[in-house]
Amino acid sequence: MSATIEPTVNGVRRRLTVEDDDLLLDVLRQIGRTSVREGCGVGACGACTVLVSGRSVSSCLARAIRYDQAEITTADGLPEDDDVIEAFVEAGAMQCGYCIPGFVLMSHELLAENPQPSREEIADHLEGNICRCGTYPEILAAIESAARRRSQSGVPIGETT
Ligand code: FES
Ligand code: FES
Repeated sequence: MSATIEPTVNGVRRRLTVEDDDLLLDVLRQIGRTSVREGCGVGACGACTVLVSGRSVSSCLARAIRYDQAEITTADGLPEDDDVIEAFVEAGAMQCGYCIPGFVLMSHELLAENPQPSREEIADHLEGNICRCGTYPEILAAIESAARRRSQSGVPIGETT
């Protein structure tokens, strides 16, 4: 059975007709949010991560029909001068780039909850995200750098950019 949902995606209210079993991953990609990637398709790699009201969700496991009125952020909806993306670029934290949108969104979630995470806390938070290119050291360095810069610039706790 189909239904209409009205999520807000990257600040834009959308009116979407979805089937009961449509995955949030597919629906978001169909409306052009192709930074949401399909990796494993079973909740084990983090490539499909989106933020719903700031909390990470594996969109490959999520039924779109449950996201009526949700506030969804995908990596391509972050501002051009996003501090986490800048830190990733500066740290060279990307090879093929396939996994990076998921890592960036997980980093935002972490820094909003814990503005000065230890290396262990970063690693714990990213445990469910896989980078097949093995860019983990650069990703860790990028998040530490973003955290350091936020503390130096006095960005209030919980703010994403
Ligand atoms: S594609 Fe969703 S967790 Fe891997
Ligand atoms: S940069 Fe290639 S999978 Fe992570």
